[in-house]
Amino acid sequence: MSESIVLELARGDITTQQVDAIVNAANSSLLGGGGVDGAIHRAAGPGLVRECSALGGCPTGQAKITSGHRLPARWVIHTVGPVWHGGSQGEAELLASCYRESLARADEVGARSVAFSAISTGVYGYPIDEAAAVAVHTVRSTPARVALVRFMCFNDDTWRAYSALL
Ligand code: AR6
Repeated sequence: MSESIVLELARGDITTQQVDAIVNAANSSLLGGGGVDGAIHRAAGPGLVRECSALGGCPTGQAKITSGHRLPARWVIHTVGPVWHGGSQGEAELLASCYRESLARADEVGARSVAFSAISTGVYGYPIDEAAAVAVHTVRSTPARVALVRFMCFNDDTWRAYSALL
């Protein structure tokens, strides 16, 4: 358990957040896509995909870190969430791993404040109530030096799901 980690919710766009690191819901190519991934790449500029293309992709449940380029955040942590197949294919453990691995990358560079997108809950179809529970439980139970975690709520359903937990 992190000693003094602050968990908070915020509505809106992760690309404008003034935090040390933002966490992208990427795909295993790390070369960009739609949703929050597309928004982050647009805001960061073309240097981000150049840096990502040297990383050799990323397996589901893992996370890799780059600089933030033109973003206010100094770093972008790219994690690849599971596609939802009904819940019996290890989705919860893979999603928990995304949060743990992202916090590990943050610790490695000394990031103290981290904003997470709601990994897997868009195109990848993970039900938001279950995904939010995994996110909050995993962040609360993972030892990390990160002091602030902000869960970004881009739509009303996401806000409602996290509000019920925090
Ligand atoms: N700021 C914060 N959250 C956002 C933003 C934003 N600007 N835009 C969307 N969201 P998704 P996934 C929310 O689909 O399900 C991409 O094409 C959105 O409302 O972005 O993990 C990748 O390349 C939802 O709550 O990610 C992959 O191929 C959450 O971000 C695939 O989508 C995640 O939705 C990953 O799918």
